[in-house]
Amino acid sequence: MPRLNALAPAFEAETTHGRLALEDYRGTWVVLFSHPADFTPVCTTEFVAFAKLAPVLKQRNTELLGLSIDSIYSHLAWVNAIRDKFGVEIPFPVIADGNREVASLYGMINPDESSTETSRCLFVIDDKGILRAMIYYPLTTGRNTDEVVRLVDALQTTDRHKVATPANWNPGDKVIVPPPRTVEDAEARKSLGYDCVDWWYCETTVPNAVSAAERKG
Ligand code: BEZ
Repeated sequence: MPRLNALAPAFEAETTHGRLALEDYRGTWVVLFSHPADFTPVCTTEFVAFAKLAPVLKQRNTELLGLSIDSIYSHLAWVNAIRDKFGVEIPFPVIADGNREVASLYGMINPDESSTETSRCLFVIDDKGILRAMIYYPLTTGRNTDEVVRLVDALQTTDRHKVATPANWNPGDKVIVPPPRTVEDAEARKSLGYDCVDWWYCETTVPNAVSAAERKG
């Protein structure tokens, strides 16, 4: 299994955009996600949603990379079917992981769920190649792409401002200042203008990573 905050497992794979390596994305954030199988309804709704998400993530220096164990020919036929039947172009590459190399590295196959299909797994990898978040969804539940962009926004806000984000946070909401670790820090923060409920619970505001105008495209 991959580990949070460790280097994301390296791979090189055949994709619908040619051979790609994770290393090629250094300097860019990556959302690597698996789906169970091509030509299945829930996966199709997800691909349509991820296609709409791609430009939103691009504003955040983040690229999508799909994966299943289907062949490259199956991927190409499905991507064409999504274009023809749903009017949606799939702009991101999709890995054909027939030998399950990448799926094994990332623990995408959960035999108690299916021994032949990848689960709905999603990994956020930062611009330095560090694995920052993992989400696992069951076969029968399509993912929420608003949550994916919220997660990327939260991680990038954490990096920029050295803060944490509270439950249900969205850009523009107050963020959490990490609790002080020393008596001096606890004392010093009294003069830093934070909005504190108690010495260990302080909030502040930070600028949005992506402006409201950019968000609207
Ligand atoms: C689907 O994408 O519709 C699906 C795939 C695997 C199991 C159940 C549903």
